[in-house]
Amino acid sequence: MPWLEWLSLFVKWFHVIAGIAWIGASFYFIWLDNSLRTPPNWKKEKGIKGDLWAVHGGGFYEVAKYSYGPEEMPSTLHWFKWEAYTTWISGMLLLVIIYYVGASAFLIDPRVMALTPLQAVSYGLLYIFGGLAIYEIACRSKLGQTPKTFAVFLILFVVAVCWLATFLFSGRGAYIHVGALIGTIMVGNVFLTIMPSQRKMVNAVANKQEVKPEWGAGAKLRSVHNNYFTLPLVFIMISNHYPMTYQHEYNWLVLVAIIGLSAYIRHYFNLKHNDIHKPAILASGAVGMLVLAAVVSWPKSAEQSIQSAVKTDAPVLSPIETQVQDIINRHCVSCHAEQPTDDIFKIAPLGFKVDSWDKIVSGAPKIVNRTVMTKDMPLMNKTGMTEEERQVLAAWFNGN
Ligand code: HEC
Repeated sequence: MPWLEWLSLFVKWFHVIAGIAWIGASFYFIWLDNSLRTPPNWKKEKGIKGDLWAVHGGGFYEVAKYSYGPEEMPSTLHWFKWEAYTTWISGMLLLVIIYYVGASAFLIDPRVMALTPLQAVSYGLLYIFGGLAIYEIACRSKLGQTPKTFAVFLILFVVAVCWLATFLFSGRGAYIHVGALIGTIMVGNVFLTIMPSQRKMVNAVANKQEVKPEWGAGAKLRSVHNNYFTLPLVFIMISNHYPMTYQHEYNWLVLVAIIGLSAYIRHYFNLKHNDIHKPAILASGAVGMLVLAAVVSWPKSAEQSIQSAVKTDAPVLSPIETQVQDIINRHCVSCHAEQPTDDIFKIAPLGFKVDSWDKIVSGAPKIVNRTVMTKDMPLMNKTGMTEEERQVLAAWFNGN
């Protein structure tokens, strides 16, 4: 369905732009908050608790943060919420276009759990909104009142949701669901906590009433959570290009490690904005990532790789099926296999594999799409596929 591909392109493009605007604003404000310094007395008297100077784009900027609120409501007040909302809306739309419409191809892996598309989509939505509910309830309960205990809860929560996703879905579908859940929690923080408390603050200032410190504090805590989620979330957004992560036997642990390490690296920058320099954090985070890469991609022993290559119960194929398999063995398997033999691609691109008949059958719509419709596979026609061979695949797919 070419129109679906176009829709996917436009929505993804928009999603990335909106995400840059959201995360950019979030990084900027965290930096701003952490970089404020004690203002001169005349500013303090006006209720300003911190100020800073910056130079950018050929001009000087002076920013001031009030302890509670200004005496007078300014005529224009900027809110920064649509960046978050549009990122989430376009993200959910992408999830539907790619993973729900294409559930059989991307979301369901029968070796993980043999779901029907309807089941997979229902579990997906339940996973996302159920996860949001648990987080919200925890934040509002006693747990949420002590940030340290809550941090422990959050770590256990992340481990549990990573595990649950890979228990239900294909590796790729699982990763994107963890991302969708984190993104939903983040936008939930904006919509359910940060915005309402800001509205209260703004109303109080407008009506010349007292601004209660707990409104700002609650919103601040959620925005700190969001801040630690940003790096893991961006990894998940690009993870579908890196099958060595989501195809790993312990893919949920790989994800837990990446989320943990990247949040830890974010911590380095948060401290740095406060003039606390702890390069050991950055260095140990980077070493952690390298160790993870080595563990994930350590070459298997010869014995293990022979075991994983052994094929059980080869099916009996009809003549055209045999022909199709021959063509694919000749032209595709050098890249799209458990252990590719191509000189450049050492792991199957996008995790797409056609090295057995059942994989060819389940990947058939995609195979035909890329060999007959768009004709951009084999990549650069590296393996020299002919037009006749493409027609054989088309004929087989169309049942002739
Ligand atoms: C030289 C390596 C190479 C060969 C040979 C090759 N491909 Fe690919 N294939 C890639 C790369 C790289 C990508 C990822 C980039 C992209 O999607 O364009 C890819 C992506 C794909 C995808 C998209 C998978 C997904 O999950 O979206 C399909 C389908 C595909 N190839 C089918 C084939 C078929 C069928 C053949 C044989 C006729 C083939 N490829 C031969 C390198 C190769």
